[in-house]
Amino acid sequence: MAKRKSTKPSRTEARRRVAIAIMAAGKGTRLKSKNPKVLHRIGGMPLLQHVIAAALQVVPATDIYAIVGHEEGKVREAVKHTGVNFISQPEQRGTGHAMMVAEDALKSHDELVVLSGDVPLIRPETIKRLLDLHQGKRAAMTILTTEPSDPSGYGRIIRKSGDVVAAIVEQKALSPKQQKLKEINSGIYAFSAPELFLRLHKLTTENAHREFYLTDIASLLTKDKKKVLGLRTTDADEVLGVNTRAELSQLDAQLRLRKSAELMREGATIFYPETCVIDSDVTVAPDATIEPFVQLLGKTNVGEGTRISSYSVITDSQIGRDVTVRPGCIITESRIEDGAIIGPCAHIRPGSDIGENAHVGNFVETKKTKLGKGSKANHLSYLGDSEIGEGVNVGAGTITCNYDGVAKHQTKIEDGVFVGSDSTLVAPLTIGKGAYVGAGSTVTEDVPADSLVIGRARQEIKPGWAKARREKQRSAAK
Ligand code: UD1
Ligand code: CA
Repeated sequence: MAKRKSTKPSRTEARRRVAIAIMAAGKGTRLKSKNPKVLHRIGGMPLLQHVIAAALQVVPATDIYAIVGHEEGKVREAVKHTGVNFISQPEQRGTGHAMMVAEDALKSHDELVVLSGDVPLIRPETIKRLLDLHQGKRAAMTILTTEPSDPSGYGRIIRKSGDVVAAIVEQKALSPKQQKLKEINSGIYAFSAPELFLRLHKLTTENAHREFYLTDIASLLTKDKKKVLGLRTTDADEVLGVNTRAELSQLDAQLRLRKSAELMREGATIFYPETCVIDSDVTVAPDATIEPFVQLLGKTNVGEGTRISSYSVITDSQIGRDVTVRPGCIITESRIEDGAIIGPCAHIRPGSDIGENAHVGNFVETKKTKLGKGSKANHLSYLGDSEIGEGVNVGAGTITCNYDGVAKHQTKIEDGVFVGSDSTLVAPLTIGKGAYVGAGSTVTEDVPADSLVIGRARQEIKPGWAKARREKQRSAAK
């Protein structure tokens, strides 16, 4: 492989070099959790991953720096696949301190966007708008602000005139008059990196929390007659922070409604979307229908014309076109091919592949099982570690005995086989093409193609036996 040349961009580039720092080192005390705050999930994804996903739409991963500290190992592990850089802040002494530990990594950049790991709904377009205003007006600091219905808990914006901000005052330091201020600091900023790093060492911990506040940079810049701007978003929801469990569930609900709205715009029908739980990575093709109380989780794809009925939970699965999933199915890490009918109340466990137009009916459980095209297992079965061909009929109550207490074994059922009801198939076992298994059989040895197997006690008839018994009992009772 050819050696790659260093691609370090020069200062003369038209676009000034922008880095994005994401502050994610805090503990999240108010969540009362043993897990770090930024790994709590909304929309099925950790908070921090949402923020990284937005940042990645603005700059490449190599220019993104996540500042991590509390349970840092877990946090790195969870998002390392995104390719972003990490900076350690082992002791968390405030948002200003977070930027102090990041100085070495970030000072070579011209412009710096700072995001919070606990403000997850931020949109890439908004980050770009913030950066455009900041660069266009050559500001030293530009603060993303909003006016939520309840501003309590947030830092408040003290405006000077128009766009210009004089300071940010934290909730606990608000004067009675300032309590009335509605405009809040979102915790998202653009900085001129040199202007920021010139002043970081001037921050002090003389405040209610005894922490270095990044927000104090605003008044330090104002004092030096540097330009500090405020950009107000109209969508307050986008910059809501997660500090409590209640906020976590509110944002989760909001994100899921956003996701449903997006899927509906693209042609899916979702009834009562407020009852559905659909993760961010899920895709639903046009003309698919999602009934109330459905969960679509992880990397699940639902094909065109498919209907997913109520109370079904589908995780990391591929559902083809024109599939019918009846109420109450659980489908995990599996494939359902076009036209198949599943359920009601079927359990499709990992590694299942249900073929085109195949049927899996009520109270049927599959695991690591391939069910061929047009095959049917309609009632009360367990099919594990098996490969079932095309056009097979698996009778009600059929069980593959795949486990001998130590190891798992395979069952192979070839095309066109008819398995009578309540059969017990003891693996390892092959049932040849076109064979017929008599109902209630326990099959322990391979069955050749086109043959009949009956593995049960032969039926015996004793004419008149029941009548004779009744008469005997009646005379004894006299
Ligand atoms: C901060 C702002 C407040 C703003 C609010 C918006 C300050 C002083 N206040 O308050 O004005 O309205 O966000 O949500 O900045 N973090 C670190 N290292 C630390 C401390 C915090 O990485 O040493 C991270 C946290 O993990 C979190 C983010 O910075 O992701 C914000 O910290 P947090 O303690 O939640 O600040 P707020 O009190 O919400
Ligand atoms: Ca916060």
